[in-house]
Amino acid sequence: MRKDTRAVIGLIGNTPMLKLYFQDRGITIYAKCEFINPSGSIKDRFAARVLLDAEQRGLLKPDSIVLECSSGNTGIALSMVGAAMGYRVMILMDSIASRERRQLIHQLGAELITFEGDGRYQVGIEKSKQMAATDSRYFLPRQFENPLNLQDHEQSTGQEILRQIPGRIDAFVNGYGTGATLAGCGIAIKKRYPTAKIIAMEPAEQALLAGEYPYCHQIEGVADGFIPELLHGAPLDGHVKVASADAMAMTRRLHREFGLLVGTSSGANVTVALQLASELGPGANVVTLLCDRAERYFSTQLFHEPEDGSAVPKTAVV
Ligand SMILES: Cc1ncc(COP(=O)(O)O)c(C=O)c1O
Repeated sequence: MRKDTRAVIGLIGNTPMLKLYFQDRGITIYAKCEFINPSGSIKDRFAARVLLDAEQRGLLKPDSIVLECSSGNTGIALSMVGAAMGYRVMILMDSIASRERRQLIHQLGAELITFEGDGRYQVGIEKSKQMAATDSRYFLPRQFENPLNLQDHEQSTGQEILRQIPGRIDAFVNGYGTGATLAGCGIAIKKRYPTAKIIAMEPAEQALLAGEYPYCHQIEGVADGFIPELLHGAPLDGHVKVASADAMAMTRRLHREFGLLVGTSSGANVTVALQLASELGPGANVVTLLCDRAERYFSTQLFHEPEDGSAVPKTAVV
């Protein structure tokens, strides 16, 4: 078993917590920098946890193939951890997934299988199960069902948040993909601070918790068109909608005003955190997560100018 190539795994987690002051509104919120994880997203945590756990329990053999359906961050994270641990990784990805995500997976030495799912995750999940049923070499991390995903956020991310916030936590907000982050962190925070509000951020175009019909949205990494099983374990107090355009505007503000190169869901999370902090009043401690890095969004709307020109980069010819 290769052990000498695994140093990168030690860089996962224990991410910094930033205090962000929004001068125009006189509001401060806390934002945990999950984009600092080595492959660039919060998903590194699950990738390391599930593969190390599987190896320890003898579920991974030298000829095993790690197989997961992912629209991006989990695929990249599993490819990175799989490379470091010396396992073959195959990622099933919808053909509409962005080119930069595919390139990163390829660069990490993993194999990509694309399918026509029209953005519907279930198609890929079914395909991974069919493949595993016919070949015992496949190991499925199953991020959408695996209780380890939730447990890891309760035991690692959630505990880190509790250590990093001075005093009481009044609210925690995050989007949901598998729901594991929101549920795991929510459980950890509620156990210590039972009155803390645990809030789900949803794209306004796909507000399933609000009981609305799903449309296409542009906040990648969250809201995959169904309410995930793990989210049922979240001690939710409410849900707040953010329009994709507003999420992108806030994300550009994080880039240009704070120098934080994060993805669209981070802007959406911060939008809700500011709203909650304003409602809860001065002194409230509101926490959210900056889930991933900007560079996996180059080909998306985030890096294209809105029609009103509000985000036109300032260039000068000299
Ligand atoms: C880009 C991104 N990745 C991952 C997550 C967390 O996903 P999950 O619900 O699967 O834990 C989020 C949640 O906000 C996200 O924005």
